[in-house]
Amino acid sequence: MSTPKKLYIKTYGCQMNVYDSERMAEALSGYEQTQSPDDADMILLNTCHIREKAAEKVYSELGRFKGLKTAKPDLKIGVAGCVAQAEGPEIMRRQPMVDLVVGPQSYHRLPELEAKAQAGEKALDTDFPEEDKFEHLKRRPKATRGPTAFLTVQEGCDKFCAFCVVPYTRGAEVSRPAQQIMTEARDLVERGVREVTLLGQNVNAYHGHDAGLSGLIWDLAKIDGLERIRFTTSHPRDMDDALIAAHGECDKLMPYLHLPVQAGSDKILKRMNRGHTAEEYLRLIERIRAARPDILMSGDFIVGFPEETEADFQDTLDLVEEVKYGYAYSFKYSTRPGTPAAERALVDPAEADDRLQRLQALITKHQRQVQDDMVGKTVNVLFEKPGRLEGQMGGKSEYLHAVHVDDAPVARGTIAPVKIVASSTNSLAGRLA
Ligand code: 5AD
Ligand code: SF4
Repeated sequence: MSTPKKLYIKTYGCQMNVYDSERMAEALSGYEQTQSPDDADMILLNTCHIREKAAEKVYSELGRFKGLKTAKPDLKIGVAGCVAQAEGPEIMRRQPMVDLVVGPQSYHRLPELEAKAQAGEKALDTDFPEEDKFEHLKRRPKATRGPTAFLTVQEGCDKFCAFCVVPYTRGAEVSRPAQQIMTEARDLVERGVREVTLLGQNVNAYHGHDAGLSGLIWDLAKIDGLERIRFTTSHPRDMDDALIAAHGECDKLMPYLHLPVQAGSDKILKRMNRGHTAEEYLRLIERIRAARPDILMSGDFIVGFPEETEADFQDTLDLVEEVKYGYAYSFKYSTRPGTPAAERALVDPAEADDRLQRLQALITKHQRQVQDDMVGKTVNVLFEKPGRLEGQMGGKSEYLHAVHVDDAPVARGTIAPVKIVASSTNSLAGRLA
């Protein structure tokens, strides 16, 4: 038997790319994965186009592989993901050593593309094919795996926020049928998975089940051995009553919700084409917290969006102050070619940097407070891996805080109550309760 070739995949961007990278590795069944590009026969960069910096990283990374390709001319180099989708032919022009370009909707065709690349041809596929890629991908293999997994249930977006490339790179909103997801979830559980995070760019707009995302969650909750369900990323406009109620009623649905608002000023929200006001968002959070009082809220923010004034930015700080996020991610606005906001006048970059720093300071303060408030409480931890010290085990609480326990005689995949005793910068320390 010939030894399998080696595949090195580097993943950028969002969790959906993490999931896609797993599926691409599975699709390339003649390869086994390696952790280093140095001994690879094929290098695949699974890329992100969401901000300019993310896209530019791809070109600098490709530059680094030049030497490898010279030393080993048989090495194949591929670019997948959202930069591939947005700039496919341009990548091949800028970096002639790239053999293969595949967009996020066509990676089920990787085996054919790989064969083409092996034959010395350039292989490019950035179609939005008619066929369902998931139907054409192999069943997932049965090898055991870690206790947590991502599972893509919905892709693409029809909301067209004025800053965002997703509707162009991932296409229109598409939901996978519930039965397909149930089968994949059962397979994952057989392989040792205890927690799934349902993924979608607009996951709460999921319509592959008659009763929407909450219907899917309730069905998944019936799978024995699947103990925890999460989902991300949600849009405020798609948080329906049944989903809010599920947060209060479904024990397996974890008390954590990523619900980006992007800005706190109604003027900016309107220009972003978000379709809701700051007040509507705040009242929505009130309803969610009424259903599940301990829910940990998480969000995303963009500062320096075109025409954002200091007063608009102050509205963002006020909103953050009111919500008090357990986690939040903030970004300086980055112009994305082809999006509606790309034509608009930019805020002074130094001013935008200053706002970003002020927002991040406030967010960090809240994150730390929310985390410190866990001290003295008992949380449930899904143990995932040994810690840095002998005998230490680490995992995540239901609120997604990292928790480690010394001298914990628990196996990977165990869920156990832990009393939190200390809080440090990025994690909590606890004792088995
Ligand atoms: N500039 C800056 N941040 C952006 N995001 C999306 N598009 C842009 C952009 N053009 C942020 C949003 C989104 C997160 C995934 O990335 O906050 O929620
Ligand atoms: Fe980046 Fe968006 Fe593509 Fe995810 S979907 S990789 S965040 S551009």
